[in-house]
Amino acid sequence: MKHVTESQQFDLKNIEKIFQLADSLEKNKDLPLKGKIMASLFYEPSTRTRFSFESAMLRLGGNVITTENAREFSSAAKGETIEDTIRIVNKYADVIVLRHFEKGASIRAAAVSKIPVINAGDGTGQHPTQALLDLYTIQKEIGKIDNLKIAFVGDLKNGRTVRSLAYLLGKYNAIEIFFISPKALKIGADIKDYLKRHKISYQELENWNLILGKIDALYQTRIQKERFKTEKEYQKYKGKYVLTMNEVGKIKNKSIIMHPLPRVDEIAVEVDSSPKAAYFKQAEYGLLIRMAILKLLLT
Ligand code: CP
Repeated sequence: MKHVTESQQFDLKNIEKIFQLADSLEKNKDLPLKGKIMASLFYEPSTRTRFSFESAMLRLGGNVITTENAREFSSAAKGETIEDTIRIVNKYADVIVLRHFEKGASIRAAAVSKIPVINAGDGTGQHPTQALLDLYTIQKEIGKIDNLKIAFVGDLKNGRTVRSLAYLLGKYNAIEIFFISPKALKIGADIKDYLKRHKISYQELENWNLILGKIDALYQTRIQKERFKTEKEYQKYKGKYVLTMNEVGKIKNKSIIMHPLPRVDEIAVEVDSSPKAAYFKQAEYGLLIRMAILKLLLT
């Protein structure tokens, strides 16, 4: 594994290796990345991904150089291309964690980089490390991934985490997916084609009423305000699917509720105390998965 750019690059063997390493790093006291430098280059806002990568690097003994809001605070503001920025950061760091507003940016970055590039979210493209931590959450909280019934809810057109996780789920057996969204925010044809090729059963619905009692995991997502052309357009969909204790009561007792976060209003705060709520745990698992990825890439 040289770069981490998209979920399709992982096979079941790689995924298992990352999960085993993540398990082993829970009580880590070693500093295998001492002397290594991670550059975190974030052109879009982030709380979880940037801090968890930076924390992961520091916990493994490495160092971090960083620019948040790189669109404004890096030389991108003066017109520097992503390729030139990556060529330069190659001279100063051992690994680059890149969040960018353009789909495909990390593939462009990886093409000119001699050091590993990790895609930390590229526009409406992918977020592969989020997908790995999502899958790890399912494994840890449900105890299996095969034979899973999962509902993805919300802005499935613009949400990169759903796209990346769907690619990973395509590698498992007897998965059943429900895509719940307004017609205008449906999951992309590329994902549906991929699932068909991998013989994964899926249904597209606008309403979640009929499936709440069937699913093992509900993956709620935010309506992605920043991807809409106008506030008016965003307001049409905001608040369309709000998970309250009313819906949670219809979900099976052993099922889990996930969300890549940040949340706006799509999960009521009252749901946080439900034993089914796994979204804060999910963010916590992200630290272990990102430690595992950094260790695999740099040692
Ligand atoms: N899930 C996720 O990518 O969160 P951030 O945008 O806060 O990094």
